[in-house]
Amino acid sequence: MIELKDICKVYTIGSESVWALNHASLHIYPGEFVSIIGPSGSGKSTLMNIIGCLDVADSGTYTLDGIAIEDYTENELAAIRNLKIGFVFQSFNLISKLTAEENVELPLIYQGVPAKERKGRVERALERVQLQKRAKHYPTELSGGQQQRVAIARAIATKPSLILADEPTGNLDSKTSQDIMDIFHELHEAGNTIVLITHDDEVALQASRQIRILDGRVKEGD
Ligand SMILES: Nc1ncnc2c1ncn2[C@@H]1O[C@H](COP(=O)(O)OP(=O)(O)O)[C@@H](O)[C@H]1O
Ligand SMILES: [Mg+2]
Repeated sequence: MIELKDICKVYTIGSESVWALNHASLHIYPGEFVSIIGPSGSGKSTLMNIIGCLDVADSGTYTLDGIAIEDYTENELAAIRNLKIGFVFQSFNLISKLTAEENVELPLIYQGVPAKERKGRVERALERVQLQKRAKHYPTELSGGQQQRVAIARAIATKPSLILADEPTGNLDSKTSQDIMDIFHELHEAGNTIVLITHDDEVALQASRQIRILDGRVKEGD
């Protein structure tokens, strides 16, 4: 479903070149729960941005659901991203002026989903993360763990082919982190494809497979 081949991304500042990704190749199959693990500066965010169609590589090929990503313009990539990828970030990235249910609804509005169907999908997504009772609350009225659950509900409401999570437990205490990981396990069991980026071995080992990254080089596990 995801295939990266020989992906390179080089940042040049003055005369310095940094190979953020150095001939990185990897496969992710439908329904897999994979973690990408590496220390700070190893290229994780660069890789996430490319997998998430937020950025394009300098060279190499990336195929997502049979689509050759490098053939598309920025606008087309935005559309692919909205349809295919559900993002979960370390800092939750909720809109503070919107309630939990409005945050979950927003990507569905962008996708042009009719109002009646939106309502049902928002309810079901909030049920999945057990936050139905907090639907009318604003982000500031929710704990960190609850905010991350809203973000997960927002990510799954669009029924994406891929859930892409960048350090989703990075801002949470260990008990709350485990609650969030339990939700990822449930989503995986329900058939979702999940890519979780982390620098934390304990979190990474909960995925079914680990892909390691160091100095922009990728090492795939079994
Ligand atoms: N926009 C940028 N400009 C210059 N260098 C960058 C930029 N983004 C990342 N880098 C460099 O690329 C390398 C990989 O960064 P990053 O992908 O953010 O790693 P990680 O997420 O694993 O911490 C680092 O050496 C970083 O300094
Ligand atoms: Mg990073």
